[in-house]
Formats: sequence, C-alpha cells, structure tokens
Amino acid sequence: MAKNFYITTPIYYPSGKPHMGHAYSSIIADIFARFKRMEGYNVMFLTGTDEHGQKIQKEAEKNNKDPKLFCDELSETFRSLTKILKLTNNDFIRTTETRHNKSVKEIWKRLVKSGDIYLDKYSGWYSVSDEAYYDDDEIEEKEGKKISKISGSLVEWVEEESYFFKLSAFQKKLLDHYNKNQEFILPKSRRNEVIKFVEKGLKDLSISRTSFSWGITVPENKKHVIYVWLDALTNYLSAINFPNIDDEKYKLFWPADIHIIGKDILRFHAIYWPAFLLAANLPLPKKVFGHGWILSDDKKMSKSLGNILDPIEIIRDYGIDQLRYYLIKEVSLGNDGSISMENLKNCINNDLANNYGNLCQRVFAFIKKNCDNKIPKKVDLKESDILLIQNLKNSIPKLIGFINKQNLNEYIRIVVNFSFEANKYFNDSEPWAFKNKDRNRMNAILHTIVEHIKNISILLYPIIPISTKKVLNTIHISDKDILIENIKKDNFLNCKTELKSLDILFKKIENDN
Ligand code: ME8
Ligand code: MG
Repeated sequence: MAKNFYITTPIYYPSGKPHMGHAYSSIIADIFARFKRMEGYNVMFLTGTDEHGQKIQKEAEKNNKDPKLFCDELSETFRSLTKILKLTNNDFIRTTETRHNKSVKEIWKRLVKSGDIYLDKYSGWYSVSDEAYYDDDEIEEKEGKKISKISGSLVEWVEEESYFFKLSAFQKKLLDHYNKNQEFILPKSRRNEVIKFVEKGLKDLSISRTSFSWGITVPENKKHVIYVWLDALTNYLSAINFPNIDDEKYKLFWPADIHIIGKDILRFHAIYWPAFLLAANLPLPKKVFGHGWILSDDKKMSKSLGNILDPIEIIRDYGIDQLRYYLIKEVSLGNDGSISMENLKNCINNDLANNYGNLCQRVFAFIKKNCDNKIPKKVDLKESDILLIQNLKNSIPKLIGFINKQNLNEYIRIVVNFSFEANKYFNDSEPWAFKNKDRNRMNAILHTIVEHIKNISILLYPIIPISTKKVLNTIHISDKDILIENIKKDNFLNCKTELKSLDILFKKIENDN
C-alpha cells in the first residue's frame, strides 16, 4: 500500500496580521507532517489564505485599497510566517488564484447537477466577521447590539436573493457517516457537539450573496458571488489539482487524512464540508481535528483588550523551537489553554536549557576532552546500558499510536521523560570516575548516552526541528537520516569522525524581577 498522507491547516483570513492562534494551528500541523515524513510517508502539507468575501472587502475598503492588492500584501505576511515558524508546507494556496477559481466552479456545477441547489431569498442574521449565518436562537443582545452567542461577534440582518444548498437533505447521511466513522470528528467532546447539532435538524444553507462583489461569481448568474465558505473549503481540493481527478496529486492525496482546525470553525468542516462533498459525489476527508483556543493570560485575545500575542515578537525574543515546544508541552491540544510569558520562560529554562540542552552539551564536551572528540565504539555494554536504549526502542509503537490519535501531549511527556532519564543515567554512571581506571567502562557509557541522545533527538525533531538538527548534525547524522527507522538500527553511530562543534542550544532566560 502506498504511504501517502495529506494534512491541512485552515486557510486564514488575511484581514489583519497573523497572531498566535494562527501560528498554533500551523505548528500543530507541521509537527504531524514532520513526524509522518520521518515514518516514511509521502506527505502533502497545505496552508494558505482565504481571500474572498465581505469581511475582506470591507477591510480593504477601510484601508482604501483594492481588495486584490490588499490581499497580496497581507497574504505575504502569512506566507512569511510559514518561514519564521519553520513550517514544512509543500504548498501555500490563495483563493484568488486561477487554479482555485476553476475548482470552486466545478464544485458549484456538480451541486447544480445533483439537484442540490435552488434559488430563493435569504432573510436572517449574518456575521461578517465570522462569515456565518446564525439562527434566531443563536443571537443575543449585549449593550444594545445583536451578537452571536457562539462567537460573540456582531451580526446584521440580511435580506437578499440567494442560492441555497439543500443541507436539510443530508442530515441522515451525515449522522450515518459520523456513526460509521468514529474518528471523523475529534476530539470526542467536539464530535458530540456536532452530532447534537445535526440531530436537531439542518436548515438549507444560503450559498451565494448579491450585496457585494468580492468573490467567485456563480457561473450561471453574474449577480451572485459564491458564499465564501463554499469557496474556502474547496481549497483543500484545488491544491491537489481538482477538478483534474486523473491527476497524480489528486489520486495520491484525496481524501485528505486530516484537517487541523480550531474549534470555532468546526461546523463548517464537520457539517457543511462533508455535505458538499457528498452532493458532489466526492470522497470525504478521513478526519477533522478541532483544537482548543489559545488564551492570553486567561482571556480571549482581542484588539480591544490589547492582549494579542504576536508570534513574531516572541520568536525574536525567545526562539522558534522554544515557542513550538512550549505551545505543545503546556497547552492541552483539545482544550483551551492560557499562555503566559512567565510559563514560557520557565519551560525554556527547565525543559530545554537545563534538561535536553544541558545533556547534549555536557556529553559532547566530555567526549571532546577525553576521547579525542570521537564517539567511543560500542564495547562491553552492561545490562543497564542496553536497557536504557531498549526501553526507548520498545516505546516506538506506542509513540506512533499517540501521534495517530493526535495525542501530542502524551507523546511529548514520554519523550521528555526519556531525556530526564538520560541525564540521570549520565550522572549515576559517572563516566568521569572511570577515566583512569577503566577506559572500557567509560567508553560503554559514552556510546550508550550518545545513542540515546540520537534517539531522543529524532523523536523531538518534529517539535524542535532546529536544535535537534544541530545536535544530530554534530554526530554526523544528516537531515535525510532523521527517520524513525534509524532509531531501530543498531551500530548507526559514526565513531570514526570527530564531532562537529555545537553552539549553545538554548540560552537560559533571566527573570526580570
Ligand atoms: O476562520 N487559538 O480564518 P481565521 C487557537 N478563513 N487557534 C486560533 C485562535 C486562537 N485564539 N485564533 C485563530 C477562518 N486560531 C477561515 C478558515 S478554512 C477553509 C477557512 C486559528 O483567520 C484556528 O485554527 O479566522 C482557527 O480555526 C483559525 O485560526 C481561524 O482563522
Ligand atoms: Mg476567525
């Protein structure tokens, strides 16, 4: 069986600069993409920007810019963030590209052909900021304004001619699909929310607008632009060359293995998207994972509170691996999590600088000083040496299982524990005590600890790629050899060549107070 894996992030609205929430989704997806590549999969990892609709049009007008030029500029800040975050995305899609336009029009035509589209009039609540329709019972009044109970965003009353999608006809098919595919929506709590919502019954969905023009026009009626969510969701197909279903990329990668999204856009991905695909007679993605919300000092990030965390500033001050590690270690993936600079500093100092970083630095310095800077050959290992290595190797199937269940928190907990154990092993075995009396024993300890460092570094690579690569390169393991199967191999270390020098991996952060 071919080992292909297709993973996506949401495509973000370039209505403003990217913030920590965007960085979070992208980093999560990158970790899975890197891990799957290490497992030998052919990975397609997609991200991009969602550029049509009323929200973008209004924002461009506010800035006195043509919407396309406005998007060109802001989309570029998202593209440059992919570099700053060290994402390994294979593509970056913009919904203003021709390839996407073709793909959306084809989806539209398929929905017309299947008889799931009709023309009528929409009247109801709309939130431009969410690009979402809300029912009466989803609206409340706050300080004299109508807002959505779900997102808290302002809503306005809309009445206009609109094409509708017969979403109501898909209730049973969707429920059947959720039932037969227990992992289609994860985590479990999110799955239950969606099922409850669908069980209440689904209304037909307005899928075109006439009161503005910034979007893809309906092929048979130029007055209408296609609803931005039907447009946006289709990006996952456009990037793999749909509508050309004979194309190699499409054949390798559809259906997608997983869409990583935030919980705010679950309804679109777990209800609308599969319904559109069912109507278009296309296979459904295998999994939609809705992660929790990043809070800034316990509060939702917002411009008015002035607590928006800028990933670029944090990376400049602390480093990219430091941010990636912190977000995964300290935030529980399915739940909301508060992040604070205080915790970030502690995490960098305790886990990265004092633990993994210090271990590597100490061991390599010792080898430089006492072993002509070469890893000693593997000789006369004791049972405790073999056990240290074996324990980690035995845990590989379990670790792969955690990744496949998106349990990054458990994955990282176990790997970090190996690193704590390694420090303890090094201290307890006291290689320095054998310098003069038993070189063989000293060499056995050193070989063992370097092999363990190698394995830990491979396992940490998807999370902290920059520093683990430095460590692995120091012991002559090149990028293409950063693979899970190289944990399992014996005698993989190069004991002939001198170690390369290793700069400080993680600077300790001083407390300001
Ligand atoms: O919704 N915590 O784009 P968007 C965690 N264009 N994640 C967060 C977050 C936070 N505080 N804030 C944002 C859109 N996110 C649509 C998507 S997909 C076909 C179209 C992340 O710019 C999270 O992934 O509003 C959320 O779902 C996404 O950014 C919303 O980004
Ligand atoms: Mg949003």
